[in-house]
Amino acid sequence: MSNARGMFPALHDGPVYLDSASTTQKPLPVIEAVTRYLSWQTANAGRATHSWASGVTRELERVRERTAGFLGVRADEVVFTGGATAGLNAVALSWGLANLRDGDEILYSPRDHASNVYPWLRLRQMLAAFGRAIRLVPYRVTALGEADTADIAAKITARTRLITVTHLHHVFGALTTLEELRGRIDPEIALCFDCSQSGGHLRLDLTELGADFAVLSAHKMFATPGTGVLYCRSDRHDELSPFLPGGNTAVAEDDSGLLSGDMPHRLEGGTHNLPGILALGAALEVLDGFGLAAITDHNRALTQRLITGLRRVRDLEFLPGPAHAPCETGYGIVSFTLPGITATDLGFVLNELGFLVRTGAHCVPSDRTPTDADSVRVSTHIYTTVEDIDRFTECVATIATEVR
Ligand SMILES: Cc1ncc(COP(=O)(O)O)c(C=O)c1O
Repeated sequence: MSNARGMFPALHDGPVYLDSASTTQKPLPVIEAVTRYLSWQTANAGRATHSWASGVTRELERVRERTAGFLGVRADEVVFTGGATAGLNAVALSWGLANLRDGDEILYSPRDHASNVYPWLRLRQMLAAFGRAIRLVPYRVTALGEADTADIAAKITARTRLITVTHLHHVFGALTTLEELRGRIDPEIALCFDCSQSGGHLRLDLTELGADFAVLSAHKMFATPGTGVLYCRSDRHDELSPFLPGGNTAVAEDDSGLLSGDMPHRLEGGTHNLPGILALGAALEVLDGFGLAAITDHNRALTQRLITGLRRVRDLEFLPGPAHAPCETGYGIVSFTLPGITATDLGFVLNELGFLVRTGAHCVPSDRTPTDADSVRVSTHIYTTVEDIDRFTECVATIATEVR
């Protein structure tokens, strides 16, 4: 990873960027992919037959193939979306609206990102308008920040239709795979994984994970904002209808209404975010170039160093996550509070001293989780160095002394 930073022009000078869980910096190949599309043979994909259009259509499908390979799935299971939020809403609208019946249940965590909470609340509201009352059943999070699988197991009923989990939690930095429940969950129950934070940090094999649906956020994987991936397992395809009907999504109209087109285009209404998708292709190449195993190791080592450094700061309190784990784990996300100074103020001071971190409630819906106070979140990636972490923890220690 020693040469990684050179690839990211925004990091050549300036503060230490410790907010990669919000969005990552962009490497040169991504910047070049966007510039190339905007300045050379700009055309729409999947429409005209002229050479520029067919060129970009081929490129788009190549990125789809590459994404499928990256996720261990088939290309027709990869839907391009506007981001992870759009992907989760697509599951709610394309699958939930058509398939959920009165009395059906969804298991979810109120301590997840709003993007994995609000789509289900909205779905419940929409179904209620059609006279179908579904239940949203909350499950707990452990002290380590993982989904509590014992609680999930206890809450599964004959009416459970979907369990939605965050693969790598955006505040706690803890991994949930539901492995403990493998073989014990009825395959009829759909499993939905929010992989926004694990994408680009861990080798993902969605088939191995047993996901029916999964979402990724391209801008957290070195690509650009406004692009994401929705994985829909092929044996769910018959259950999906267009959530964004328009160009691409339907093949014809008959007496009963629209006839849905084939996957994945059925869920890709409108013009694709072409620069974003091409950026994703370049980003995957960068990630594969470094190797996911090496990236995981790098972030784990940084997480451990961060925890060790922050443990020396008197009174500092870690949120659930790898700091509480019995073994050396971590995926590049650590959150904490420092008594005597609000997270927001601490964030401002750190910014003044040259460190960019995320502060606040981190998009966890606060009305549903009053126990989650504001905190400081530090998040790393391949361009983060051991020196960055050491300077950061020394700085927090100095601030803590002054606050006392
Ligand atoms: C866990 C999680 N889910 C969903 C999202 C939303 O992603 P997007 O910006 O691609 O909609 C985020 C972004 O912070 C996230 O951390």
